[in-house]
Amino acid sequence: MPFPAVRLRRLRINPLIRNRLAETELEARRLIVPLFVRSGAGLRVAIESMPGQFQFSVDTLVTETRSLLRRGIRSALLFGIPSHKDLRGTQAYAPGGIVQQALKALKREFPDLLIITDLCFCEYMPHGHCGILKKSGRLDNDATLALIAKTAVAQARAGADVIAPSGMIDGMVRTIRRALDQNGFQNRLIMSYAAKYASAFYGPFREAAQCAPRFGDRRAYQMAPENAEEALREVRLDLEEGADIVMVKPALAYLDIIRRVKELTHAPVAAYNVSGEYAMVKAVAQKGWMQEKALVREILTGIRRAGADWIITYHAKDWLDERKKPDEA
Ligand code: PBG
Repeated sequence: MPFPAVRLRRLRINPLIRNRLAETELEARRLIVPLFVRSGAGLRVAIESMPGQFQFSVDTLVTETRSLLRRGIRSALLFGIPSHKDLRGTQAYAPGGIVQQALKALKREFPDLLIITDLCFCEYMPHGHCGILKKSGRLDNDATLALIAKTAVAQARAGADVIAPSGMIDGMVRTIRRALDQNGFQNRLIMSYAAKYASAFYGPFREAAQCAPRFGDRRAYQMAPENAEEALREVRLDLEEGADIVMVKPALAYLDIIRRVKELTHAPVAAYNVSGEYAMVKAVAQKGWMQEKALVREILTGIRRAGADWIITYHAKDWLDERKKPDEA
């Protein structure tokens, strides 16, 4: 042994040292909870493939949000499940559409809550694809842009702080920025689902939001898991078009992308710890094969360490509850 002996283990010797030297912190302000809202009253409909997650009506959503805020949650990402779907997705931008109703109720009750709205048409169109379809069954990119602009303005008007387009439609960010600016919403932000992969990990969400494609899949507009360079182009382009925050989705199989996006852009980066990632943890925990609390801590910390400024996660509520209990061993 050379002298003085180098002992890295001194850095881990007890909880006091470990805690004071932890390099990564998971502050509650970085967590964003996804919330599903549907029409009706007094509803709290369990989502089978996502234990612990529910579809709420506006009234129960307000109650749920109050308990989230009490736990330290500061931000939410809203998804709507409309009572009526049509080929033009009218409920996405109707002034009385479900997301607009929820926005008004939440903003009235909780002015300090940051509200992000997902902007996509797969929930609003009967075929379950993310925009207007041509006769060929392909997505009509430019016809969809017109509806995206309308929806962004409707969401902003109802109180959304951040608009989050998730359809991977070319030009969506530029279109939204222009529409917001022209309607007096220069100070609303855009968080683009910039690098969104065509992923099997969205399975449970499609049950939750009732938006599974009726035919085909989303590979003609979402990205192939093989591609990293293309993700960087997507991100760079969205920033040029006016995105304020860029997202990588899913998170766990794409931690390298999160890191590279952060290093390339130095922009705020969000990572979406998606429904399938959540469902896997819940399933193994129910089986007793792994321990939920430890898994969640490791997963969320890993996403943060990779470079995410915000983490969108269904674990947020449970995790903040668990974290309060003493755990260091
Ligand atoms: C809508 C949308 C999806 C998710 C978020 N927004 C589904 C999809 O693209 O198929 C997935 C979220 C999750 O799995 O938690 N386009």
